[in-house]
Amino acid sequence: MMMSSNKFFTTFLLLSLSMFVLSHISNGQGPHHHDQQQKNPVAGHGRDHHQDDEGKGRGHDDHDDHKGNGKPKDDDHPPPHVKGCPQLETIARNITWTRVAADPTLAPKLLRLHFHDCFVRGCDASILLDSTASNSAEKDAIPNQTVAGYEVVDEIKARLEVVCPSSVSCADIVALAARDAVSFQFKRPMWPVSIGRKDGRVSSSSEASSNLPSPFSNFTTLLQEFKNKGLDLQDLVALSGAHTIGVGHCGLISDRLFNFTGVGDTDPSIARAYASLLRAKCSNLGANNVDPAIEMDPGSGSSFDTHYYTALRQNQGLFESDAALLTDQRSARMSRAFETNRELFFVAFGQSMVKMGAIGGVGAGEIRRNCHVIN
Ligand code: HEM
Repeated sequence: MMMSSNKFFTTFLLLSLSMFVLSHISNGQGPHHHDQQQKNPVAGHGRDHHQDDEGKGRGHDDHDDHKGNGKPKDDDHPPPHVKGCPQLETIARNITWTRVAADPTLAPKLLRLHFHDCFVRGCDASILLDSTASNSAEKDAIPNQTVAGYEVVDEIKARLEVVCPSSVSCADIVALAARDAVSFQFKRPMWPVSIGRKDGRVSSSSEASSNLPSPFSNFTTLLQEFKNKGLDLQDLVALSGAHTIGVGHCGLISDRLFNFTGVGDTDPSIARAYASLLRAKCSNLGANNVDPAIEMDPGSGSSFDTHYYTALRQNQGLFESDAALLTDQRSARMSRAFETNRELFFVAFGQSMVKMGAIGGVGAGEIRRNCHVIN
């Protein structure tokens, strides 16, 4: 029966997640200890969130955090840059929260920035490098043209370069800013962020275009693209929940709305009433280069919650890639489970963010002095 299988599925998810949470608690560290690819899990759970002033209090560089996790030897000797910057988490959080408070649209932007960084060459801040005369960088790739929030990273970097010069990579700053941007709504860190990533020296717009998932993709393609990055079905469904905040542009859904099969039709998988609302909102698309922005989670686009999955179930996913989650039984069941269990979604989302933040491991590279250019 449908009900009982849904219930079974939710219970199963909850059980595996609780086991994960339990092991996480007993280990005294983040969910990332499961992931062999992980980088040094030095920054803890933002335990310094009681600190209001930079550098006061215990800080996050309590090295007992990562004992006994079977990590390579150098985990027991955190890199000097981590030891050297106990104020890191506090600085990143304070600047991010101040910026997001002043402009809430920055929360989704910073979250997306981290995703777009990690899916291309791993989380190595390659998205932050500027193009040069001889190289078109990631940030100039078409899917990155609506990515923003760079100035928040720059501000954190500028502050850190004063307090602990050449100690914290731009990639770590992006990861912290994404976490803190989402956490602002809750006033507590929503997932642990490991520190120790290196900044890459290569950034290519064509690599960005070929590695970033497309909003026109179907389920099979999306899952394969996630698998290519070491992520699984649950990561795909949970991380798609990021679309609970932020906007997408009409230009990317115009075919869905106005010319789905080439005969002036609308994608029949969009709920009828919602499709007419979208057509109205996008009716001036193209006039004077206008490309209206639409909440991806209708009615709830500034709140990080489970309503994205409600919208999906009601056939109000904005992109084909959102709607695609309903086309596979497992992912449809999982999104239903997330819809009905906020804690389940939050834990799963945090777990998947930790995995996403570990793509590429610590990487080879440097600690950039200026996030826009290699040293
Ligand atoms: C599953 C594959 C995904 C696809 C195909 C996809 C695609 C897109 C597209 C096309 C946009 C709208 C861009 C625009 O028109 O400005 C968007 C926005 C966004 N995406 Fe995704 N995305 C995916 C996964 C993710 C993941 C994994 C995250 C983060 C963990 C994420 C976070 C966001 C956020 C927060 C926004 C809103 C940005 C803003 O308001 O400026 N997305 N995504």
